[in-house]
Amino acid sequence: MKLTLGIAYCPHSFPKLLNCFSFGSLGRPFCSSAPSSSPTCVKPQVPLYLRPPIYSTKLCDLKKWHDWAKGLSFSIGSTFVQSDNGPDSSMLCRELKWFMEDAVEDRSLATEDDEEVTMRVDIEELYSLWKQRVQERRPFQYVVGCEHWRDLILSVQEGVLIPRPETQLVVDIVSDVVSENEDLRSGVWADLGTGSGALAISIGRVLGNEGGRVIATDLSPVAVAVATYNVQRYCLQDKIDLREGSWFEPLKDMEGKLAGLVSNPPYIPSEDISGLQAEVGRHEPRLALDGGIEGMNALLHLCDGAALMLKPGGFFAFETNGEKQCRALVDYMKSRSGSFYNLEILADFAGIQRFVIGFHQ
Ligand SMILES: C[S@@+](CC[C@H](N)C(=O)[O-])C[C@H]1O[C@@H](n2cnc3c(N)ncnc32)[C@H](O)[C@@H]1O
Repeated sequence: MKLTLGIAYCPHSFPKLLNCFSFGSLGRPFCSSAPSSSPTCVKPQVPLYLRPPIYSTKLCDLKKWHDWAKGLSFSIGSTFVQSDNGPDSSMLCRELKWFMEDAVEDRSLATEDDEEVTMRVDIEELYSLWKQRVQERRPFQYVVGCEHWRDLILSVQEGVLIPRPETQLVVDIVSDVVSENEDLRSGVWADLGTGSGALAISIGRVLGNEGGRVIATDLSPVAVAVATYNVQRYCLQDKIDLREGSWFEPLKDMEGKLAGLVSNPPYIPSEDISGLQAEVGRHEPRLALDGGIEGMNALLHLCDGAALMLKPGGFFAFETNGEKQCRALVDYMKSRSGSFYNLEILADFAGIQRFVIGFHQ
């Protein structure tokens, strides 16, 4: 099963992001700007590394917590690996180091046991968060509230899928296609099922300062709120329009006008959900995972919609669960004679046939 979590987070691989709005607004309750009939208020969680360092604790208490957290991590051994291919204790110890780096402002400033260390959460919350990580198998990215993805640091929380490394390739695919085609570069793109906004934000950046823009949709109000927050942090509000609703439903004004369409929809067959790694199956939203009996429900719907919504020459890229779904999707698209051309299946980093791409006739 593809969906596992583990090694993607590494705080020092990427520069810290320029904040384009203040902590005042980061911390306030946040309303999705989606044109929904009953507006939903969701408060996106501020990633741990961005929280103000307003707590302090004695160095000896921090060391005591660290010894306890390390002991808990070591006690796991390879139990989770054996049960569902989850993290082993060395992975948990690596995460513990990253967690410390996000939670503690500057540990090196304190050298004596009774000196104070400045932190972004209080010491009780450190205990509680690490218990959640190890005992409840809460994904590390939800514990620290963010995921490093390409050159972005995206806020994530319960209710929003943690973006996966292989999905990054969709951005490279789009980047290649628009670099050769001015019409696509300056057109309107859609990212359906945007989740944290990972694809929409990256494609917005790929389109650059020319006319191109992105519409990103999601059925989940939490996803729309978190994606809105991420879009604002990257100052892309003028480039990316977030809309709440099911697939193409919020795009009625764009029929036959889209230059490009991308989606990483839910594609796990329903019967496989119970076998997923606990971090995924217990904590990530079922709405983001479950693709129905064969896992193809959303993909087939997207295919039908692409034929209606893309303009002639418009491009699409869909992520799938693997070779079987890729083949089924290509067969389905070929059966819609005259709708699509240059259909291709592309592999991910691991060599798994993962993406179906093509153009609208
Ligand atoms: C696999 S996740 C992908 C999220 C994000 N694009 C990414 O790659 O990280 C699928 C997304 O589709 C959304 N979704 C599920 N059903 C939907 C629907 N009917 N309409 C729009 N979005 C939907 C989920 O809420 C979730 O955010």
